Amino acid sequence: MPPVNSSNSPGTLAWPASPAPSCPVLRLLAGQTALVTGASSGIGRAIAIALGHAGANVVINYLGSPKKAEEVAKEIQRCGSRAISVAADVSKPDQVQSMFQQTVAEFGRLDILVNNAGIQLDAAFEDLTLDQWQRVIDVNLTGPFLCCQEAVRLFNKQGINPALSCAAGKILCISSVHEVIPWAGHVNYAASKGGLMLLMKSLAQEMAPRRIRVNSIAPGAIRTPINTAAWETREAYDDLLKLIPQKRIGEPEEIGRAAVWLASDQSDYVHGITLFVDGGMTLYPGFETGG
Ligand code: BGC
Repeated sequence: MPPVNSSNSPGTLAWPASPAPSCPVLRLLAGQTALVTGASSGIGRAIAIALGHAGANVVINYLGSPKKAEEVAKEIQRCGSRAISVAADVSKPDQVQSMFQQTVAEFGRLDILVNNAGIQLDAAFEDLTLDQWQRVIDVNLTGPFLCCQEAVRLFNKQGINPALSCAAGKILCISSVHEVIPWAGHVNYAASKGGLMLLMKSLAQEMAPRRIRVNSIAPGAIRTPINTAAWETREAYDDLLKLIPQKRIGEPEEIGRAAVWLASDQSDYVHGITLFVDGGMTLYPGFETGG
């Protein structure tokens, strides 16, 4: 059990924290190149750093301020891998194409694509505007479509390099428990993640004979800026825990560790699945005490 801090003051870590990894970092991705979208904060940041620590060179995609992306690049460089940051809106085809061109210009190839960039624009259904609907679908679903297409074209051209990996390429989609859990008040977000699930599975089926592996990770409640309101006060956190059998929030690094494994040859026979990293959130916690 992780230690429990009994302090009740909001804004401090007044609840169980995730255990730190005690295992050494394995250089499972040495020499490979990874592109992580939305990598300047939250889950994307943790994935980019974890892939870098595992030996991959990393392209840190961001939209907005370059400062946070540069900090991620510095952390990756500190551990001996190379990193560049590239600004691009993943929903814009010309910006996506240019991002892939910059990747190849810098590192000569691409081995791993992580479709992480995602947004929430929440509203009660009758108030949800077409703009809110469209922007969430654009970033969360059209973005992965455009990036997957560029990645697949590159992987086809490159073929397999056995010195790096037994696959011609790996694609990870960062989905959500809401690819299967309906979410009132978040119809646009849940629809985008449900769509992402079948994009991933259909693509996985089509790409399997070419040795391009496609999988998803579905995080539950992870401590990031996207859901601050769900964990920053004691009251909100206690409410959140009712939805999590493990009775703790997840940490971004836990998604990073899953991504390293799923992008590495250690999971080579894992194809077209969603790996839920959610402390049991998808286990119908309302039934914990009987039905
Ligand atoms: C959402 C978070 C939410 C979590 C669990 C994620 O996909 O982005 O806001 O806390 O799902 O509901």
